[in-house]
Amino acid sequence: MTVKNLENLVKKEVLSLDAYVPSKTREEVKQDIEFKEVINLATNESVLGPSALVQEAIKSALPVIHQYPDGSSSLLRKEIASHLGINPQMLIITNGGDELIYLLGNSFITPGDEVIMGEYGFKTYENATTINGGKLIMVPFQKRKHDLPAMASAVSNKTKMIFLNNPHNPNGTIFTHKELRNFLKKIPQNIIIVLDEAYCDFVENQEFPDSIKLLREDDHYLVVLRTFSKIGGMAGLRIGFGIAPEEIIYYLKKIQPPYSVNCLAQVAARAFLADEGYREKLLQNNREGKAFLYQQFDRLKLSYITTEANFIYLDMKKDAEVITDKLMEKGIIVRSGKLWGCDTFLRITIGTQKQNQQLIYALENILLE
Ligand SMILES: Cc1ncc(COP(=O)(O)O)c(C=O)c1O
Repeated sequence: MTVKNLENLVKKEVLSLDAYVPSKTREEVKQDIEFKEVINLATNESVLGPSALVQEAIKSALPVIHQYPDGSSSLLRKEIASHLGINPQMLIITNGGDELIYLLGNSFITPGDEVIMGEYGFKTYENATTINGGKLIMVPFQKRKHDLPAMASAVSNKTKMIFLNNPHNPNGTIFTHKELRNFLKKIPQNIIIVLDEAYCDFVENQEFPDSIKLLREDDHYLVVLRTFSKIGGMAGLRIGFGIAPEEIIYYLKKIQPPYSVNCLAQVAARAFLADEGYREKLLQNNREGKAFLYQQFDRLKLSYITTEANFIYLDMKKDAEVITDKLMEKGIIVRSGKLWGCDTFLRITIGTQKQNQQLIYALENILLE
Protein backbone atom coordinates (compact mmCIF):
# COMPACT_ATOMS: atom_id res chain seq x y z
CA MET A 1 0.00 0.00 0.00
CA THR A 2 1.37 3.44 -0.84
CA VAL A 3 1.91 5.81 2.07
CA LYS A 4 0.13 9.13 1.83
CA ASN A 5 2.58 12.03 1.76
CA LEU A 6 1.42 15.47 0.75
CA GLU A 7 4.96 16.78 0.45
CA ASN A 8 5.42 14.44 -2.50
CA LEU A 9 2.33 15.89 -4.16
CA VAL A 10 2.86 19.60 -3.66
CA LYS A 11 4.81 21.56 -6.30
CA LYS A 12 8.43 21.92 -5.22
CA GLU A 13 8.20 25.68 -5.77
CA VAL A 14 5.36 25.86 -3.24
CA LEU A 15 7.26 23.70 -0.71
CA SER A 16 9.99 26.31 -0.46
CA LEU A 17 7.63 29.26 0.17
CA ASP A 18 6.72 30.76 3.54
CA ALA A 19 3.12 31.94 3.95
CA TYR A 20 2.62 35.70 4.23
CA VAL A 21 2.54 36.73 7.88
CA PRO A 22 0.09 39.62 8.24
CA SER A 23 0.55 42.04 11.12
CA LYS A 24 -1.82 41.53 14.08
CA THR A 25 -5.32 42.87 13.58
CA ARG A 26 -6.83 45.51 15.88
CA GLU A 27 -9.12 42.82 17.32
CA GLU A 28 -6.22 40.46 18.15
CA VAL A 29 -4.29 43.21 19.87
CA LYS A 30 -7.41 44.36 21.73
CA GLN A 31 -7.85 40.83 23.08
CA ASP A 32 -4.18 40.51 24.04
CA ILE A 33 -3.95 43.73 25.96
CA GLU A 34 -7.54 44.54 26.83
CA PHE A 35 -7.28 48.03 25.34
CA LYS A 36 -10.48 49.78 24.31
CA GLU A 37 -8.91 51.52 21.38
CA VAL A 38 -6.12 50.11 19.25
CA ILE A 39 -4.36 52.22 16.63
CA ASN A 40 -3.17 50.39 13.54
CA LEU A 41 -0.18 52.16 11.98
CA ALA A 42 1.18 48.95 10.45
CA THR A 43 -0.60 48.45 7.15
CA ASN A 44 -0.63 51.88 5.47
CA GLU A 45 -4.40 51.93 5.18
CA SER A 46 -6.33 55.20 4.97
CA VAL A 47 -6.36 56.57 8.50
CA LEU A 48 -9.57 58.50 7.80
CA GLY A 49 -11.73 55.37 7.47
CA PRO A 50 -13.85 54.85 4.34
CA SER A 51 -15.34 57.77 2.41
CA ALA A 52 -18.99 58.50 3.24
CA LEU A 53 -19.88 58.50 -0.47
CA VAL A 54 -18.28 55.08 -0.88
CA GLN A 55 -20.28 53.72 2.03
CA GLU A 56 -23.52 55.08 0.56
CA ALA A 57 -22.73 53.57 -2.83
CA ILE A 58 -22.10 50.18 -1.24
CA LYS A 59 -25.38 50.36 0.66
CA SER A 60 -27.31 51.15 -2.50
CA ALA A 61 -25.67 48.18 -4.29
CA LEU A 62 -26.59 45.65 -1.60
CA PRO A 63 -29.90 44.60 -3.26
CA VAL A 64 -27.97 43.19 -6.24
CA ILE A 65 -25.33 41.10 -4.48
CA HIS A 66 -27.19 37.93 -5.47
CA GLN A 67 -26.08 38.68 -9.05
CA TYR A 68 -22.58 38.00 -10.40
CA PRO A 69 -20.61 41.19 -10.82
CA ASP A 70 -19.76 42.80 -14.16
CA GLY A 71 -17.01 40.35 -15.18
CA SER A 72 -14.88 42.95 -16.95
CA SER A 73 -15.64 45.88 -14.62
CA SER A 74 -16.61 47.78 -17.75
CA LEU A 75 -18.13 50.90 -16.15
CA LEU A 76 -15.21 51.30 -13.77
CA ARG A 77 -12.71 50.77 -16.57
CA LYS A 78 -14.41 53.49 -18.64
CA GLU A 79 -14.29 55.91 -15.72
CA ILE A 80 -10.65 55.23 -14.80
CA ALA A 81 -9.74 55.49 -18.49
CA SER A 82 -11.40 58.88 -18.76
CA HIS A 83 -9.61 60.09 -15.58
CA LEU A 84 -6.26 58.99 -16.94
CA GLY A 85 -6.89 59.92 -20.58
CA ILE A 86 -6.25 56.40 -21.88
CA ASN A 87 -8.11 53.72 -23.80
CA PRO A 88 -10.16 51.39 -21.49
CA GLN A 89 -8.58 48.45 -23.33
CA MET A 90 -5.33 49.32 -21.56
CA LEU A 91 -6.86 48.51 -18.18
CA ILE A 92 -7.43 45.39 -16.15
CA ILE A 93 -9.26 45.65 -12.81
CA THR A 94 -7.97 43.15 -10.26
CA ASN A 95 -8.67 41.79 -6.79
CA GLY A 96 -6.19 44.19 -5.24
CA GLY A 97 -2.83 45.03 -6.78
CA ASP A 98 -1.69 41.67 -5.46
CA GLU A 99 -3.83 39.82 -7.99
CA LEU A 100 -2.23 41.79 -10.82
CA ILE A 101 1.23 40.68 -9.64
CA TYR A 102 0.11 37.03 -9.61
CA LEU A 103 -1.48 37.38 -13.05
CA LEU A 104 1.81 38.77 -14.39
CA GLY A 105 3.81 35.94 -12.83
CA ASN A 106 1.40 33.24 -13.99
CA SER A 107 1.17 34.60 -17.53
CA PHE A 108 4.81 35.36 -18.20
CA ILE A 109 7.27 33.73 -15.80
CA THR A 110 8.45 30.24 -16.74
CA PRO A 111 11.07 27.99 -15.03
CA GLY A 112 14.56 29.42 -15.34
CA ASP A 113 13.43 33.01 -16.03
CA GLU A 114 15.17 35.66 -13.98
CA VAL A 115 13.13 38.35 -12.25
CA ILE A 116 14.88 41.46 -10.97
CA MET A 117 13.69 43.48 -7.98
CA GLY A 118 15.12 45.63 -5.20
CA GLU A 119 16.61 43.81 -2.19
CA TYR A 120 14.13 42.10 0.14
CA GLY A 121 11.62 42.40 -2.71
CA PHE A 122 7.96 42.40 -1.85
CA LYS A 123 6.37 39.15 -0.72
CA THR A 124 3.94 39.03 -3.64
CA TYR A 125 6.70 39.62 -6.23
CA GLU A 126 8.66 36.78 -4.67
CA ASN A 127 5.70 34.39 -4.62
CA ALA A 128 4.62 35.19 -8.18
CA THR A 129 8.18 34.48 -9.30
CA THR A 130 8.94 31.41 -7.20
CA ILE A 131 5.73 29.47 -7.81
CA ASN A 132 6.38 29.76 -11.53
CA GLY A 133 9.94 28.48 -11.23
CA GLY A 134 11.52 31.90 -11.76
CA LYS A 135 14.77 32.95 -10.14
CA LEU A 136 14.81 36.03 -7.89
CA ILE A 137 17.58 38.51 -8.57
CA MET A 138 17.57 40.99 -5.71
CA VAL A 139 19.64 44.13 -6.19
CA PRO A 140 20.85 46.05 -3.09
CA PHE A 141 19.68 49.62 -2.58
CA GLN A 142 21.85 52.67 -2.93
CA LYS A 143 21.08 55.21 -0.19
CA ARG A 144 17.76 53.49 0.48
CA LYS A 145 16.70 53.98 -3.16
CA HIS A 146 16.38 51.52 -6.02
CA ASP A 147 19.83 51.34 -7.60
CA LEU A 148 18.59 51.62 -11.18
CA PRO A 149 22.05 51.42 -12.84
CA ALA A 150 22.84 48.24 -10.85
CA MET A 151 19.43 46.81 -11.74
CA ALA A 152 20.11 47.50 -15.42
CA SER A 153 23.49 45.77 -15.09
CA ALA A 154 21.77 42.73 -13.54
CA VAL A 155 19.84 42.13 -16.79
CA SER A 156 20.86 38.95 -18.59
CA ASN A 157 19.44 37.04 -21.54
CA LYS A 158 17.30 35.15 -19.00
CA THR A 159 15.63 38.26 -17.56
CA LYS A 160 11.86 38.14 -18.06
CA MET A 161 10.54 40.77 -15.67
CA ILE A 162 11.68 43.69 -13.53
CA PHE A 163 9.69 44.95 -10.55
CA LEU A 164 10.17 48.59 -9.60
CA ASN A 165 8.32 49.84 -6.58
CA ASN A 166 7.87 53.61 -6.67
CA PRO A 167 7.49 55.05 -4.00
CA HIS A 168 9.32 52.20 -2.37
CA ASN A 169 7.78 50.25 0.48
CA PRO A 170 9.16 50.42 3.20
CA ASN A 171 11.76 53.12 2.41
CA GLY A 172 9.30 55.71 1.09
CA THR A 173 11.88 56.86 -1.49
CA ILE A 174 11.28 57.47 -5.20
CA PHE A 175 13.19 57.53 -8.47
CA THR A 176 12.44 60.39 -10.85
CA HIS A 177 11.06 60.52 -14.38
CA LYS A 178 14.52 61.29 -15.73
CA GLU A 179 16.11 58.41 -13.80
CA LEU A 180 13.46 56.04 -15.09
CA ARG A 181 13.97 57.23 -18.67
CA ASN A 182 17.73 56.69 -18.40
CA PHE A 183 17.08 53.23 -16.98
CA LEU A 184 14.70 52.31 -19.80
CA LYS A 185 17.34 53.27 -22.37
CA LYS A 186 19.50 50.43 -21.02
CA ILE A 187 16.80 47.77 -20.88
CA PRO A 188 16.10 45.48 -23.84
CA GLN A 189 12.57 45.76 -25.19
CA ASN A 190 11.59 42.15 -24.59
CA ILE A 191 11.47 42.46 -20.80
CA ILE A 192 8.32 43.24 -18.84
CA ILE A 193 8.81 46.20 -16.53
CA VAL A 194 6.33 46.50 -13.69
CA LEU A 195 6.00 49.95 -12.14
CA ASP A 196 4.31 49.31 -8.81
CA GLU A 197 2.78 52.66 -7.91
CA ALA A 198 0.60 51.55 -5.00
CA TYR A 199 1.53 54.72 -3.08
CA CYS A 200 1.89 57.20 -5.97
CA ASP A 201 -1.02 59.42 -4.91
CA PHE A 202 0.89 60.58 -1.82
CA VAL A 203 3.96 61.76 -3.75
CA GLU A 204 4.76 65.48 -3.48
CA ASN A 205 8.01 65.52 -5.45
CA GLN A 206 7.26 67.06 -8.87
CA GLU A 207 9.90 64.90 -10.54
CA PHE A 208 7.99 61.69 -9.91
CA PRO A 209 7.60 59.73 -13.16
CA ASP A 210 4.58 60.36 -15.35
CA SER A 211 4.04 56.69 -16.04
CA ILE A 212 0.93 57.26 -18.13
CA LYS A 213 2.94 59.52 -20.48
CA LEU A 214 5.64 56.86 -20.61
CA LEU A 215 3.06 54.23 -21.49
CA ARG A 216 2.11 56.39 -24.49
CA GLU A 217 5.64 57.27 -25.57
CA ASP A 218 7.89 54.37 -24.63
CA ASP A 219 8.09 51.12 -26.56
CA HIS A 220 8.90 48.84 -23.62
CA TYR A 221 6.40 46.40 -22.17
CA LEU A 222 5.45 48.64 -19.24
CA VAL A 223 2.83 47.61 -16.69
CA VAL A 224 1.69 50.16 -14.10
CA LEU A 225 0.11 48.91 -10.87
CA ARG A 226 -2.32 51.09 -8.93
CA THR A 227 -4.62 50.30 -6.03
CA PHE A 228 -7.68 51.62 -4.24
CA SER A 229 -6.38 50.13 -0.96
CA LYS A 230 -4.39 53.18 0.14
CA ILE A 231 -5.67 56.47 -1.27
CA GLY A 232 -9.12 54.93 -1.84
CA GLY A 233 -9.62 53.85 1.76
CA MET A 234 -10.91 50.45 0.73
CA ALA A 235 -8.16 47.92 1.51
CA GLY A 236 -10.81 45.55 2.87
CA LEU A 237 -12.66 45.43 -0.46
CA ARG A 238 -9.61 44.25 -2.46
CA ILE A 239 -9.53 46.26 -5.66
CA GLY A 240 -6.70 47.60 -7.77
CA PHE A 241 -5.81 47.81 -11.44
CA GLY A 242 -3.12 47.46 -14.05
CA ILE A 243 -2.43 49.80 -16.96
CA ALA A 244 -0.48 48.32 -19.85
CA PRO A 245 -0.38 47.99 -23.62
CA GLU A 246 -3.51 46.21 -24.88
CA GLU A 247 -1.61 43.06 -25.88
CA ILE A 248 -0.39 42.53 -22.30
CA ILE A 249 -3.89 43.06 -20.89
CA TYR A 250 -5.16 40.49 -23.41
CA TYR A 251 -2.97 37.76 -21.88
CA LEU A 252 -3.63 38.75 -18.27
CA LYS A 253 -7.38 38.55 -18.86
CA LYS A 254 -7.04 35.01 -20.20
CA ILE A 255 -6.01 33.69 -16.81
CA GLN A 256 -7.88 36.01 -14.45
CA PRO A 257 -10.38 33.98 -12.42
CA PRO A 258 -13.94 34.85 -13.52
CA TYR A 259 -15.60 37.54 -11.41
CA SER A 260 -12.57 38.04 -9.19
CA VAL A 261 -13.55 41.67 -8.55
CA ASN A 262 -16.79 41.73 -6.57
CA CYS A 263 -19.68 44.09 -7.30
CA LEU A 264 -19.37 46.12 -4.08
CA ALA A 265 -15.70 46.82 -4.76
CA GLN A 266 -16.53 48.00 -8.28
CA VAL A 267 -19.30 50.31 -7.07
CA ALA A 268 -17.09 51.60 -4.26
CA ALA A 269 -14.19 52.39 -6.60
CA ARG A 270 -16.53 54.33 -8.91
CA ALA A 271 -17.88 56.33 -5.96
CA PHE A 272 -14.32 57.07 -4.82
CA LEU A 273 -13.40 58.43 -8.26
CA ALA A 274 -16.26 60.91 -7.97
CA ASP A 275 -15.24 61.92 -4.44
CA GLU A 276 -12.48 64.52 -4.78
CA GLY A 277 -13.13 65.73 -1.22
CA TYR A 278 -12.07 62.48 0.42
CA ARG A 279 -8.87 62.27 -1.57
CA GLU A 280 -7.93 65.88 -0.79
CA LYS A 281 -8.66 65.41 2.92
CA LEU A 282 -6.50 62.29 3.09
CA LEU A 283 -3.64 63.99 1.25
CA GLN A 284 -3.84 67.02 3.51
CA ASN A 285 -3.80 64.77 6.58
CA ASN A 286 -0.75 63.04 5.18
CA ARG A 287 1.12 66.30 4.50
CA GLU A 288 0.34 67.71 7.93
CA GLY A 289 1.03 64.41 9.71
CA LYS A 290 4.35 64.05 7.92
CA ALA A 291 5.47 67.56 8.93
CA PHE A 292 4.41 66.96 12.54
CA LEU A 293 6.17 63.58 12.77
CA TYR A 294 9.39 64.91 11.18
CA GLN A 295 9.40 67.73 13.73
CA GLN A 296 8.83 65.33 16.63
CA PHE A 297 11.37 62.76 15.43
CA ASP A 298 13.92 65.59 15.13
CA ARG A 299 13.10 66.70 18.67
CA LEU A 300 13.59 63.13 19.91
CA LYS A 301 16.80 62.89 17.84
CA LEU A 302 15.49 59.91 15.92
CA SER A 303 16.62 59.48 12.34
CA TYR A 304 14.19 58.67 9.55
CA ILE A 305 14.02 58.51 5.81
CA THR A 306 12.07 61.36 4.24
CA THR A 307 9.05 59.83 2.59
CA GLU A 308 6.91 60.29 -0.50
CA ALA A 309 4.33 57.81 0.77
CA ASN A 310 1.85 57.51 3.65
CA PHE A 311 4.36 55.88 5.98
CA ILE A 312 7.76 56.73 7.46
CA TYR A 313 10.73 54.41 7.96
CA LEU A 314 12.14 55.34 11.33
CA ASP A 315 15.45 54.19 12.80
CA MET A 316 15.11 53.68 16.55
CA LYS A 317 18.74 52.53 16.84
CA LYS A 318 17.36 49.83 19.17
CA ASP A 319 15.92 46.38 18.52
CA ALA A 320 12.80 47.04 16.46
CA GLU A 321 11.01 43.91 17.69
CA VAL A 322 11.33 45.06 21.30
CA ILE A 323 9.97 48.51 20.44
CA THR A 324 7.17 46.99 18.35
CA ASP A 325 6.10 44.85 21.34
CA LYS A 326 6.27 47.80 23.72
CA LEU A 327 4.15 49.93 21.37
CA MET A 328 1.70 47.05 21.06
CA GLU A 329 1.36 46.95 24.85
CA LYS A 330 0.34 50.60 24.59
CA GLY A 331 -2.25 49.81 21.91
CA ILE A 332 -0.25 50.94 18.86
CA ILE A 333 0.57 48.51 16.03
CA VAL A 334 3.54 49.31 13.76
CA ARG A 335 5.65 47.12 11.45
CA SER A 336 9.14 46.04 12.46
CA GLY A 337 11.85 46.58 9.84
CA LYS A 338 13.25 43.11 10.56
CA LEU A 339 11.13 41.86 7.70
CA TRP A 340 13.32 43.91 5.37
CA GLY A 341 16.62 43.25 7.13
CA CYS A 342 16.58 46.52 9.10
CA ASP A 343 16.68 45.32 12.69
CA THR A 344 16.36 48.76 14.26
CA PHE A 345 13.75 50.27 11.93
CA LEU A 346 10.00 50.68 12.28
CA ARG A 347 7.64 51.37 9.39
CA ILE A 348 4.94 53.63 10.69
CA THR A 349 1.82 54.71 8.82
CA ILE A 350 1.24 58.46 9.08
CA GLY A 351 -1.84 58.69 11.31
CA THR A 352 -4.42 61.31 12.15
CA GLN A 353 -3.19 64.19 14.30
CA LYS A 354 -4.50 62.45 17.42
CA GLN A 355 -2.90 59.12 16.51
CA ASN A 356 0.42 60.80 15.71
CA GLN A 357 0.39 62.54 19.08
CA GLN A 358 -0.35 59.23 20.83
CA LEU A 359 2.48 57.58 18.92
CA ILE A 360 4.98 60.28 19.88
CA TYR A 361 3.88 60.17 23.51
CA ALA A 362 4.33 56.36 23.54
CA LEU A 363 7.72 56.48 21.77
CA GLU A 364 8.99 59.17 24.10
CA ASN A 365 8.04 57.07 27.13
CA ILE A 366 9.73 54.01 25.66
CA LEU A 367 12.90 56.01 25.02
CA LEU A 368 12.92 57.22 28.62
CA GLU A 369 12.61 53.68 30.06
C1 LIG B 1 4.37 47.99 -2.68
C2 LIG B 1 3.00 47.42 -2.73
N1 LIG B 1 2.55 46.95 -3.88
C3 LIG B 1 1.34 46.41 -4.00
C4 LIG B 1 0.50 46.33 -2.92
C5 LIG B 1 -0.81 45.66 -3.13
O1 LIG B 1 -1.86 46.30 -2.59
P1 LIG B 1 -3.34 45.74 -2.70
O2 LIG B 1 -3.26 44.28 -3.03
O3 LIG B 1 -3.95 46.00 -1.38
O4 LIG B 1 -3.97 46.51 -3.81
C6 LIG B 1 0.93 46.80 -1.68
C7 LIG B 1 0.10 46.69 -0.48
O5 LIG B 1 0.45 46.94 0.63
C8 LIG B 1 2.22 47.36 -1.58
O6 LIG B 1 2.71 47.82 -0.42
